Amino acid sequence: MKKQLRANDVDHQQQQQNLDDPENPHQSSRFFGQSCYSALSRFFSLRCLIVLVVSLAILLPTIFCLFPSRSHTLAPPLSQPHANDTINYNAASVQASFKLRKPVSEVTSQKGALEDEIFRSICLSNDTKVIVLSLRQSCSCKYTDVEFAVVPVSAGYEISTQSLTSLRSSFVNLLEQRSKLNLTTTCFGKPYSFQVLKFPGGISVDPSGSIPVPSFGYVGNILNITLDRSISEILPDNKAQKLSGKLAVTLYLEPQESIYFRLTNIQGSTVSPPVIVQVYLVITIRVNLQLRLDHFAHITQTSSANNLGLENTVFGEVKGITISTNLEGEILDPALVMAPTPTPACYPSLC
Ligand SMILES: *[C@@H]1O[C@H](CO)[C@@H](O)[C@H](O)[C@H]1NC(C)=O
Ligand SMILES: *[C@@H]1O[C@H](CO)[C@@H](O)[C@H](O)[C@H]1NC(C)=O
Ligand SMILES: *[C@@H]1O[C@H](CO)[C@@H](O)[C@H](O)[C@H]1NC(C)=O
Ligand SMILES: *[C@@H]1O[C@H](CO)[C@@H](O)[C@H](O)[C@H]1NC(C)=O
Repeated sequence: MKKQLRANDVDHQQQQQNLDDPENPHQSSRFFGQSCYSALSRFFSLRCLIVLVVSLAILLPTIFCLFPSRSHTLAPPLSQPHANDTINYNAASVQASFKLRKPVSEVTSQKGALEDEIFRSICLSNDTKVIVLSLRQSCSCKYTDVEFAVVPVSAGYEISTQSLTSLRSSFVNLLEQRSKLNLTTTCFGKPYSFQVLKFPGGISVDPSGSIPVPSFGYVGNILNITLDRSISEILPDNKAQKLSGKLAVTLYLEPQESIYFRLTNIQGSTVSPPVIVQVYLVITIRVNLQLRLDHFAHITQTSSANNLGLENTVFGEVKGITISTNLEGEILDPALVMAPTPTPACYPSLC
């Protein structure tokens, strides 16, 4: 070994001597070539440097978005750096989803940031945190389906009732498009198609924004209709308005009567059937309320065979009907409630 090293050293020394020899013709031409080369390379490297700096300044944000994702394209779509493997977040009681106009490869590398942004955007309370459950390619490869859970910060605890209440109203605001998921990072683009997948105690939306309470008259949930559709199938494209129109015809509403409804899914999912359509009747004049309720009960029963006059292809099949048999609603004028009468036969004469 030592011998070999020495031999190399000698070789090296000889080469050095050759280079230093001014009489060597090879050497001067080499010198000329070298200085020419270095002048050229200096010129080019300066240009390269400028181009590189400018390009970097322009491309840096893009590279920041793209580069880490490259290494993730072959990795499984979900790796959870934040997650505790011993906790099954897939069983979390609050789950929701939305879509991003970004390829899944770009979103995966930003999962932690995405969780923080969702948390901030929904204004969650400090006893909860957001866990991204899955990032999947959506229809075309350009979009990503994001599923996330809201879980208690400390494992083994439940989300407080107060936090759940404010979380529910945040979700409902997003569903009724009164607010938007506000993701600030340029990497995510604008989210769309927000859906709730699970919520304890169910989730309800009012397609008209809210059920109006008149200053005079009556408002009450007179009827529940169960349809084999999901909230997300009824809510968009003015379908709720069409449903309202159809029901108004079926129920023979008087001009001073109007109906509003609330769409509920008991599991808290806006994407799975069924949907309970809670029909609210609003009456703004003095009427014989019991008589009207009897009328609605009768009409509903007779038209149930006819799917309540609702097109099957648009609204799905009516799977169940419950009718309010007593005056459960909010009576805003006590004179509306007639004194209990012995037989219904008396009603026409009272009117
Ligand atoms: C994960 O959860 C288990 C059970 O709740 C807990 O004992 C453990 O400390 C947690 N680990 C981390 C890293 O949070
Ligand atoms: C959450 O905030 C409340 C008041 O805003 C505070 O009393 C509580 O200590 C906070 N909890 C945690 C875990 O930070
Ligand atoms: C979204 O968040 C940014 C930064 O937090 C804020 O400046 C902006 O007003 C927010 N937009 C909406 C619509 O909430
Ligand atoms: C309609 O459904 C809601 C929610 O399940 C329930 O609270 C209400 O009592 C029902 N109303 C009728 C008229 O059945």
